[in-house]
Amino acid sequence: MYSAEAQRNLYELSKKLLSSAAPSLFSIDDDPVARAYDLASVIRYHEWRYALLNDPVISDFEYDQLYKQLEALELEHPELVNPDSPTQRVSADLTADFNTVAHLTPMLSLDNSYDAEDLRDFDEAVKKLCGLPKDADVAYCAEPKFDGGTIALVYENDRLTRAATRGNGEMGDEITANMRTLRSIPLQADFSQYGIAKAELRGEAIIRKDVFEKINARREAEGETVFANPRNAATGSLRMKDPREAAARGLEAFLYQLGYAVDAEGNSVLDRFPTHDDSIQLLGTLGFKTPVLEAAPGSPLPERKVCGNIEEVIAFCSAWQDYRDNYPYEIDGMVIKVNSIALQGRCGYTSHHPRWAIAFKFRARQATTQLRDVEFQVGKTGAVTPVAKLEPVQLAGVTVSNVSLHNEEFIKSKDIRIGDQVLVERAGDVIPYIVKSLAELRTGTEQEIVYPRQCPVCHTDLVKPEDEAVWRCVNAECEAQVVQRMIFHTSKHAMDIEGMGESTIIRFYKMGWLHSIADLYRLDFDKIAQLEGFGEKSAANMKAALEVAKKNPIYRLLHSLSVHHLGQKGSKLLAAELDHVLDLRNWDLERYQEIKDVGPVLAKNVYNFFHNEKNIELLQTMEDLGVNLRQTEEDKKPASAAEGPLAGLSILFTGTLSTMAREAAEKMAAEAGASLSSGVSKNLNILVVGEKAGSKLKKAQALGTVEILTEGEFLARIQQEA
Ligand code: IVH
Repeated sequence: MYSAEAQRNLYELSKKLLSSAAPSLFSIDDDPVARAYDLASVIRYHEWRYALLNDPVISDFEYDQLYKQLEALELEHPELVNPDSPTQRVSADLTADFNTVAHLTPMLSLDNSYDAEDLRDFDEAVKKLCGLPKDADVAYCAEPKFDGGTIALVYENDRLTRAATRGNGEMGDEITANMRTLRSIPLQADFSQYGIAKAELRGEAIIRKDVFEKINARREAEGETVFANPRNAATGSLRMKDPREAAARGLEAFLYQLGYAVDAEGNSVLDRFPTHDDSIQLLGTLGFKTPVLEAAPGSPLPERKVCGNIEEVIAFCSAWQDYRDNYPYEIDGMVIKVNSIALQGRCGYTSHHPRWAIAFKFRARQATTQLRDVEFQVGKTGAVTPVAKLEPVQLAGVTVSNVSLHNEEFIKSKDIRIGDQVLVERAGDVIPYIVKSLAELRTGTEQEIVYPRQCPVCHTDLVKPEDEAVWRCVNAECEAQVVQRMIFHTSKHAMDIEGMGESTIIRFYKMGWLHSIADLYRLDFDKIAQLEGFGEKSAANMKAALEVAKKNPIYRLLHSLSVHHLGQKGSKLLAAELDHVLDLRNWDLERYQEIKDVGPVLAKNVYNFFHNEKNIELLQTMEDLGVNLRQTEEDKKPASAAEGPLAGLSILFTGTLSTMAREAAEKMAAEAGASLSSGVSKNLNILVVGEKAGSKLKKAQALGTVEILTEGEFLARIQQEA
């Protein structure tokens, strides 16, 4: 769009114009016409850097100064105001009135595909339509399917003259005033240089996911209704009555099709651009935001790709499906287009969609299904959790039939009833959850969810601690709790006993072999070897796994006891201070205060546990059975070093590190006293960036409070004396 030289000149000109802002407007150039021209040129350039490259070269403040200068100049010389001036994006006297307008060519829909087979079928159909042999390779262009509001822009004699929504495909609403406010849409573009007198471009107006979240946060704070998703926020913004409000919504436009282009005589010139790729490149050159061939933000993948054949398309779509959650924009699939315009012509159209293009839809993340029943499950600390039993439904590649309803408050606030149709969502790695119940689909047979007041397993009265949202069974002998504690005891984060999973524990429990966690260490392996589904080998493996577990450091044992609030971190803090686990019998509550990061609630829970004779007996039995209760070397390492060059700092790694594995780097950071963060937030102190760092780096830069280190700087830092 701008050559390096043009960019340098515009930058220098900006600086000159900025330094001459005051006192006299015309200190550089007394000719207001020339000055207005200069100002408009540099402002357009900075809008391009900002809105398309995401990489401004001047500050927002400086941009505002330039803009204000032009505004002041135009106020003084109204004859200089030209409708394409950057100051005319929003004209306050113009309200969006939404006339209906006819598109220059119909805006069709897309056919859908859902898997590799569908795409191969599409490829086969394309070859047939084009009269190509079955084994020919057709080149396709693949790009994200943006999930926003579809727009069509008309340029006549290099000026934006009209913008419209898709409407019914033939006619749309005129939204020119609103679209003029988007800095990613040039008000003028050099189409004539390519022999184009009039053009219609298609694209999508979208809102970045993080901007969407900010908009919703603000709306929530102001008591307004929030948007369900970025798409609704975008389509709503297209039709704002006041363009100034539309401007405030942070819309961006991606253009992905040159739908119509004629010369001054009205003859189509579309065939001057032989491939889809050529026409997208043209739009990029003219200053439009398009899906680019370079890496997508924060990604190893190109945003758009010209693929040599359908197998390349399939691989590209599948890679994007995995990357989709990291992309700053909401997308619901990919669009695949025959790259050659000549071949597109041979494919033609149905009344509904072009035969040369297809959408590849990502696996659905939302689905509706029926809530058949609610079960109340008792956890290892007695918390009673309602779990919805759903009619099984496919969601982003997995079958979902159980989802947690968390607590009584959740059920009430969402007015969820048994028999309801519910909307279930699974985004990224997030556990599936119920978004809402569809009250409008009720038949009258739905039943309210009755929360039990007694433990569903042992029937003890449930208790709801004042500061908690959950009801609890307080009977430590409750069968459900005993089994859950055993399951937790053997789990990966606790004693990590391989081959001793949930189903095995339940089976042994039902056979009367297990009454407490101590019984795990006196199982009869001869008997186990006789069981159906076991045998000598798996019994021997289980025995070996238990032998290994017996030697575990005591922090694992402490964690495995299911003391409420005692997690791995707390367990490590305690383990570092103990010669023997049973020393805790002699600790009073004050002793816990001496450990940083151990709060009064945790202290009380551990204190109570070690002042209960039954628990002491349990641990003594375990010690007799060979389980280690003495501090090991591993226990001596403090959980978070209070000393060290990174003491007290939180750290996060992003991108690919070149000299060490991520895990190794994290371990070094922890040993230097840092705590590992899971994401970029105000609480993060240090971000270490490797190669191809993406959104995390941008976010950290935007926050401005995070110290950003290269890999080398990080290494130098941890080698410093504290
Ligand atoms: S091409 C003639 N490319 O998806 C076909 N459409 O279901 C022109 N969409 O509302 C469409 N991203 O607005 C194309 N990269 C992309 C797209 C895209 C989103 C929308 C399109 C239409 C819908 C079709």
